[in-house]
Amino acid sequence: MSNKDLGSSFYELKPNDPAYKILTQYPVKSNTTFTAYYSGRNAFMAVFKDIANKTTINKIWLPSYYCDTVINLINRNFNNVHYYNIDPFHFNNDLDITEFAKDNDVVVINNFWGLSSFKNYSCHTNKPIIIEDHTHGWLSEKCLNSKADYCISSLRKTYPIPLGAVAWKPNSKDVLLPYKDTNDLSIIDAHNALLTSMQLKRQHLKRLKDPKKKYLTLLKNGESLLDLSNSYIKPEDVLIKQIQHYYNYDPNPIKNRNFKLAINSLKTSKNFKVINREGFTPFGLLLLFKDEKIFNSFKSWLISNQIYPAHLWPNTSTNIIWRYLLNLHIDFRYNKEDISYLVEKINIWIKNNV
Ligand SMILES: Cc1ncc(COP(=O)(O)O)c(C=O)c1O
Repeated sequence: MSNKDLGSSFYELKPNDPAYKILTQYPVKSNTTFTAYYSGRNAFMAVFKDIANKTTINKIWLPSYYCDTVINLINRNFNNVHYYNIDPFHFNNDLDITEFAKDNDVVVINNFWGLSSFKNYSCHTNKPIIIEDHTHGWLSEKCLNSKADYCISSLRKTYPIPLGAVAWKPNSKDVLLPYKDTNDLSIIDAHNALLTSMQLKRQHLKRLKDPKKKYLTLLKNGESLLDLSNSYIKPEDVLIKQIQHYYNYDPNPIKNRNFKLAINSLKTSKNFKVINREGFTPFGLLLLFKDEKIFNSFKSWLISNQIYPAHLWPNTSTNIIWRYLLNLHIDFRYNKEDISYLVEKINIWIKNNV
């Protein structure tokens, strides 16, 4: 790609692209049966339906710090939502869900940035039903060896697909999760908008045309349409095939390489901490700030240099002092030169903000 836009949404990838070749160097084998959905939220709805088919859900427990679109969806559909405290930036904490949740409760546990560990509750009798969210830790060891009742992962955050997610039951022989037989125009329209956006972004990056404004508008519209979807219909065959094609490739080795390249030459700053955990691969280059103004000025600096990070999550509040998190994308799209460019820009900002 000849345009130096780093980060944000994926562009359409084709088999001859270097990024495609890099990603597909790392095939994985899994015996798990995944059910594909349009979105992570649709996958959640299917999982809740599966649970409701077997039992009456008493309380639903969500982490106090979590993706706001999922929080909104669950609150829209259930009136028994509770929250448990979690520090999303420290990973040796001993979350014990049996201290607050009872059987017939459902507890959502998030794999924060791919760095979380999970207690094994499978020997407990009368334990709550556990759903793990591996959106940010797809194919991590914790994801592959989950002992939860259900798992979901929104794969559109990992692979170059307009939409796509999976749900699975790691410990069950009855592996199929339901689809809802209904019309969901919102998700179909979201898919079309995001697909076109990805195609236009490809053209923008290749400098074929400059439809930047248009792909950004479509991206925004697609994300808004996703918020309106409230079902879990079966994705169209083409998308299921795309999801099943990509989920056999491990995004983590290249992220790990890029992460190491970045931190080896990144200067230290009193303004942010790098979130990491020995032996794990983080979802991206995660920089955590405590001062909102400095955070915003850093973000603006990156954007002025065509680096587009993600704020995780802008509408979630916590009392933790260091709480403003930016994810800088360091996936298979980026080579050593891109990572050098990224680090060079961050280092200039650090020098100017001592
Ligand atoms: C951790 C996490 N889980 C689930 C989701 C929902 O995925 P989707 O946007 O595909 O519905 C998101 C969305 O950003 C997320 O960050």
